[in-house]
Amino acid sequence: MPGLDVKPLLEELKDRISEELDYELEAMSQQMFADAYAGDPDIYVPSVVMATGQVLVSEWMDGTPLSRIIAEGSKEQRDRAGIMLVRFLFSGPSRAGLLHADPHPGNFRLLGDGRLGVLDFGAVDRLPGGLPRFFGRLLRIMHDDDADIEEVERELRAHGFLRDGIHVDLDALHAFLAPLAEPSKVDSFKFTREWMREEASRVTDMRAGNISRQFNVPPSYVLIHRVSTAPGAPWRSGGQPVIYSSPSGTSRPMARRCAACSLRITCMTALISARCVNACGKLPRCRPEHGSISSP
Ligand SMILES: Nc1ncnc2c1ncn2[C@@H]1O[C@H](COP(=O)(O)OP(=O)(O)O)[C@@H](O)[C@H]1O
Ligand SMILES: [Mg+2]
Repeated sequence: MPGLDVKPLLEELKDRISEELDYELEAMSQQMFADAYAGDPDIYVPSVVMATGQVLVSEWMDGTPLSRIIAEGSKEQRDRAGIMLVRFLFSGPSRAGLLHADPHPGNFRLLGDGRLGVLDFGAVDRLPGGLPRFFGRLLRIMHDDDADIEEVERELRAHGFLRDGIHVDLDALHAFLAPLAEPSKVDSFKFTREWMREEASRVTDMRAGNISRQFNVPPSYVLIHRVSTAPGAPWRSGGQPVIYSSPSGTSRPMARRCAACSLRITCMTALISARCVNACGKLPRCRPEHGSISSP
């Protein structure tokens, strides 16, 4: 990974993890979200009742865990949950000045009235100015048929995604970014499983010669990167099985790569020895006592 500056990244992760243990800070973030989304027709955030350094008490919230919707919900339920999840995650910075940075299914519930309930504000990114405008600028440049790829390179350097001394081939940079800009170029874009799968494996391909290896992740973008790559789960469970549900529905999902084709797969228990059934055609080795495949 010649492009990556690892030390500041680790510092950022250390700071954010220590924050997760501070309940007073978590309470403040939760209440900021609760206030920002009060009265929202689609999103509900329970209010904080009290908090000390050791205890955080908030209003109770009944509902169906998102993990169950992912595993057993109809296409309509999954689509709606997915839309609400994405709207919540990406509206947080402009509405609450915060980004919810732990978007795994255990932290979301579908309430009886159809709203998406949100929990767990231990990991947040403070973005008082909203999401960085730089993303919008990059996308707008890439939407041009004759995109100014030198300007893209300048933007990436200015924001620390390309470090000094790291060379990128501009044609390769264009080819890398163009598919990622495609969804926002058109009025309506269908995120098919094939598209998501292809893009996920393409941008995370770290083999020698791949341009992904040239990029840096500046510390201030770590949590944004985490959130922007996460929320596909409700849609991914449409056809072939890539989502597994644990019988209890409570354990944390775990992402792994298929050993054979390196596709990223998500399972709901850390105990499953999973093999992907997609690009490489290998069957999952899923022990029934640990989890089940959610779709045919
Ligand atoms: N307000 C709430 N209403 C109902 N259940 C909750 C509430 N807050 C937390 N829980 C339950 O407790 C679990 C853990 O809480 P969470 O805030 O996600 O902590 P952690 O940081 O340990 O993941 C949640 O997954 C959920 O099942
Ligand atoms: Mg949680």
